[in-house]
Amino acid sequence: MNQAAPTEPRPQVVVLDTGGQYCHLITRKIRELGVYSEIRPSETPASELSGLKALVISGGPASVYEVGSPQVDPAIFRLPCAVLGICYGQQLMAHHLGGLVQKGDKGEYGMAYLETGAGSALFREAEGRQRIWMSHRDTVTRVPAGFEVLGTTETCAIASMGDAAQGLYGVQFHPEVVHTERGRQVLSNFLFDIAGCERDWSPREQALRIEDEIRRVVGDRNVFFFVSGGVDSTVAFTLCLRALGEARVRASYVDTGLMRDGETDFVKGVFESLGRGIFSVEHAQERFLSALTGVRDPEKKRHIIGEMFVEVQEQILASGHYLEGNWILGQGTIYPDTIESGGTAKADLIKTHHNRVSGIQKLIAENRLVEPLHLLYKDEVREVGRELLLPEELLSRHPFPGPGLAIRCLCEDAAQPVRKLDGGWLAPLHSVGVQGDSRSYRPVLLLEEPPDDEGIHLRATEAINRNPAINRVVSLAGAHVPVAELRTSEAFITARRLERLRAADSLVRRLCHESGFENSVWQFPVIIVPLGVPGRPDSIVLRPIDSVDGMTAQSVVMPPALLEEMTRSLLALEGVCAVLYDLTHKPPGTIEWE
Ligand code: XMP
Repeated sequence: MNQAAPTEPRPQVVVLDTGGQYCHLITRKIRELGVYSEIRPSETPASELSGLKALVISGGPASVYEVGSPQVDPAIFRLPCAVLGICYGQQLMAHHLGGLVQKGDKGEYGMAYLETGAGSALFREAEGRQRIWMSHRDTVTRVPAGFEVLGTTETCAIASMGDAAQGLYGVQFHPEVVHTERGRQVLSNFLFDIAGCERDWSPREQALRIEDEIRRVVGDRNVFFFVSGGVDSTVAFTLCLRALGEARVRASYVDTGLMRDGETDFVKGVFESLGRGIFSVEHAQERFLSALTGVRDPEKKRHIIGEMFVEVQEQILASGHYLEGNWILGQGTIYPDTIESGGTAKADLIKTHHNRVSGIQKLIAENRLVEPLHLLYKDEVREVGRELLLPEELLSRHPFPGPGLAIRCLCEDAAQPVRKLDGGWLAPLHSVGVQGDSRSYRPVLLLEEPPDDEGIHLRATEAINRNPAINRVVSLAGAHVPVAELRTSEAFITARRLERLRAADSLVRRLCHESGFENSVWQFPVIIVPLGVPGRPDSIVLRPIDSVDGMTAQSVVMPPALLEEMTRSLLALEGVCAVLYDLTHKPPGTIEWE
């Protein structure tokens, strides 16, 4: 196994990644139970996995018999540690130990009910009938010698199996997802009763350890950070500051003019309270705005913003002499960013994220880099931040995209009316979506009914499935004019439209905060779209969503009283004609409109 640095924790449990989206979730759940665990590629040789208490083989999309499907070293089953195979992991275990795996008559996706008998350590306090989450087509049809069947569902005769003497267990269902009722209990039984793990992990206790690690990596050098005001870079910076002292750390923040209302002052306040003379703001509002003049295309916008960041950051690096001598770069990279899972490695490009600054590349190539959070998950970073007494307002904030409000300020280069369609109106506004892993850029369907019941999401999904010309559905929360009068106008990013969007976003944030609704959503983008009438040329789109990691997301219904107050206040803003509510899940719509 990769040798951990002397100040870094050693995992008791390794999760072998077979390319599934659940690999990080399993690791996080194990850590939540107080046991430090890390991820390794599924094919890691058994000789590199010594000294562990347990191995977990994750679920993945492949079929064990497929050529090139992810495998494990069969010798891992002879290691003196317990092994749990989950989903594809159970199938691999059966396949290698002499059982049989076959394609099922039909798949089993979503909720199912598991029946387990008494007597197995894996299901202690989780016996009987329970709701579980399944996602499979292949299935184990004969257990290996020495194994017993521990659980069944209506469709799956071997939903769990185990060989207690060898400490080998498999489950076809996903104990790591919240929809599995007693999943946490099953994982806990495996870790503590079967594998004999000890509780050794609490993110809150990591600050001092990480500070030691920073001193070890940095030596007698100094550390420079580009900070965004986000949780990761702020926590990473604060740890470096505590480890090294005010004289040896610096942070720079680029004000692009694409920030939310009050953001720059907020970030400035946080950093200035941490120490004197450690923080500087680069004012680049005019440069970003003029580079974006007259640009409609979302990918072009992202490209221009990425390039401008490169230019400004290169200048800061050069003028601060940070590329020379004793300076190294600090970054807020977190654990999931360091593991390229098989599931994401070949993902299609949906949207361009930021380019890498060549000066930064140089520092990385020269190994002049410190990433204090590289072993932590986002929730763990927040816990460390609490330990450091950083403001809760900063730690619990929703994610905000690097290109800022630019990708929430929709532009169009043609004036066109809305058009009546069967079941709604076609609004000639284009937004980005993701369908079957590839990008779409299509118009929006506008429903006249208000977003006031759960059923409306079903109708929205049906509408998208029925009409391949659209990738997003919004419903009308309120307007100054009848829908038939709405039209798009030629509009780009201007200081005025950004001001209008900032006012709307700030109003929405205040109401969400006061009502507590901000805690019911993962993110709440507010978008300005050039749809209206002369004098009121723009409309505001509300996009509250729930998600775990931003890869998929559900549109959320808002309490009617809150929506009513929000709509009324937004319609009172200068230039705003209508308030629209985005009903689209991801997929088929992306979270951001661009
Ligand atoms: P999408 O729109 O792709 O967004 O569904 C998924 C999540 O990623 C955020 N996002 C970005 N974050 N730079 C970022 O740092 C970007 O260019 C960027 N684009 C999207 C988005 O806010 C959501 O949380």
